[in-house]
Amino acid sequence: MVEIRQRAVPTTGSEKDHDQVKVPLPGSASNRLDKKDIDKKVEQIRTLNLLRLVLSLAGLGAVLWFGYKTVYPILFQSSKTPSDTQTQLPGSGFGSGSGSGYGSKFGKTLLPNEQPSPVGGIKLDADIEKREAVKDAFVWSWNAYEKYAWGADEFSPLSKSGSNLTSAGGVGYTIVDSLDALLVFDLIPEYERARDWCKNELNFDKDATFNTFETTIRILGGLLSAHYLTSVHPSSSVQADSPLYLELAVDLGERLLGAFSSPSGIPWSGINLATRNGIPDKDNQGVASLAEAASLQLELKYLSHLTGDYVYWRKAEKVSEIIRGEAVHDGIAPIFINPMNGQFVASEIRLGSRGDSYYEYLLKQYLQTDRQEPVYRDMYDEAMGGIKKHLIGQTKKSGLIFTQELHPARHPRDQTQTWQIVPKQDHLVCFLGGSFILGLTEGGKKPVDWKVLDERDMEDFIVGKGIVESCMKTHDTATGLAPEIAMFVQWSDEQRAQTEDWYIKPNQNGVLIDGRNILRPETVESLFLAYRSTGDEKYREWGWQVFQAFQKWCKVPSGGYAGIEDVQTVPPKQLDRMETFWLAETLKYLYLLFDDSDHIPLDKHIFNTEAHILPVFQPGYISPFATS
Ligand SMILES: *[C@@H]1O[C@H](CO)[C@@H](O)[C@H](O)[C@H]1NC(C)=O
Repeated sequence: MVEIRQRAVPTTGSEKDHDQVKVPLPGSASNRLDKKDIDKKVEQIRTLNLLRLVLSLAGLGAVLWFGYKTVYPILFQSSKTPSDTQTQLPGSGFGSGSGSGYGSKFGKTLLPNEQPSPVGGIKLDADIEKREAVKDAFVWSWNAYEKYAWGADEFSPLSKSGSNLTSAGGVGYTIVDSLDALLVFDLIPEYERARDWCKNELNFDKDATFNTFETTIRILGGLLSAHYLTSVHPSSSVQADSPLYLELAVDLGERLLGAFSSPSGIPWSGINLATRNGIPDKDNQGVASLAEAASLQLELKYLSHLTGDYVYWRKAEKVSEIIRGEAVHDGIAPIFINPMNGQFVASEIRLGSRGDSYYEYLLKQYLQTDRQEPVYRDMYDEAMGGIKKHLIGQTKKSGLIFTQELHPARHPRDQTQTWQIVPKQDHLVCFLGGSFILGLTEGGKKPVDWKVLDERDMEDFIVGKGIVESCMKTHDTATGLAPEIAMFVQWSDEQRAQTEDWYIKPNQNGVLIDGRNILRPETVESLFLAYRSTGDEKYREWGWQVFQAFQKWCKVPSGGYAGIEDVQTVPPKQLDRMETFWLAETLKYLYLLFDDSDHIPLDKHIFNTEAHILPVFQPGYISPFATS
């Protein structure tokens, strides 16, 4: 394979200049910060932080005197500005260097009842009854799939039928996605039937277009996880299966390499698994999603580690390098990137769909190679700094911390490009709460003294915990299930902001999107990470609440579970679909939430963005980029 070293390739002409994102973000002073500017900024921020610390110490007395409730509205008066959309906007006020005057929320210490147990030494015992209830739900789902849709990629529980992603036949979407869950749940006969299917039926020589990202995270990730878990399994007959999964993973990995054939090295969104041709995304003028291009790294790097063939590793790392080189805007980036030239395209900045797992994988790449690739911690910290500075909002009524989006817009006065803040939070963003807490403890490897967190860690904890809490608040619905998309009330909406924190946007033209719940895992994923990291029992209580709501409304009497059309309607109409991530992620995270903390300990494992369990390993190869 010839490595393409040149990033800036002449465009095909479809890319117009103004499509390049060169617009300052709200709260940031310059268009692009080069390394020197960033260093200078960091220095300024440090000085500012010191100043702020002194000020906040002085302010502490006053705060105690007036009481939090009195001071709160004063502190947040200035955040009325963010709702005046389409102007040069201030930052969100969280994080360093925003200069907006209400950063004083940070630097406070945790109250005794907010301090988690010391990390690292926590030993959490299983809640066996609840854990087994989750296992029963898995069995209910799996048995229905076996009975009605065996071998098909996807399962429709209401029509009791299966379907494949393409007409070229199934690629084990459900079966491979469930292998590691079957092992975690210790369902060995079921596991063996799934293994036999992989051995006898699974074949990737399919002449059709598959999504590069989904194929990587679900199928390649599933195979790699099955390889790992079987290789460390106590039963020697299960251990004997592990070469099968590696063989399949290599076969699939080789096919996926075709997606990286673009001029820039940013993978094409699609891949034909038979011809190995990368296929541009027709729906989006050929551009790739940030999350899709930048969430293949854990899988491809582990495949290289296992095989000693570093072609996968280099392809994956090249993507991070391109993004690092392009990184505008305090580490946060638009959701579209052009594989033709490796440049970002003017588009939304958000932590939900098409953005989410880019941020997740920065941290997890750092953890995967046992913290030996510092570039990912740097990129992660920069991104989290940008998120805290630009994307965090807080509601007026209850002070809920949430994330908002930035949409490119034209300034009404002079039509220059600017950003509009949209207080919209996809359920997908709910991974971020747990991720912040995981980052703080580095999977339990970093000793954390919760009484003396430094400013960055304190911010990360407050924001992470806050996002978990607001995600739980979005479960305050008629069904107890969260919607696909929540809108938070802006301060400028004065009447509403007094009485309401968030709402679901009404469906337009009968198209149901925002109010659905499709069995997504992100809230329970965060609950699992937060519980394992802090030992705070409330996370288990919340997980149980969510699980019971799934039981009540999503369980299908004839077998399986279904998403629902509207979380505010009781009883809700069920949707004829059991997503594979229900088996691979939602139930696995719930099960591990209630299990003993020695089962899949966080300091030795990472979860890919489909919750596939991969080991932390000592890298046999570290590139100059990774230590840059
Ligand atoms: C899906 O693909 C599998 C495996 O190729 C095949 O056995 C099955 O018949 C297909 N199902 C449908 C509904 O086309």
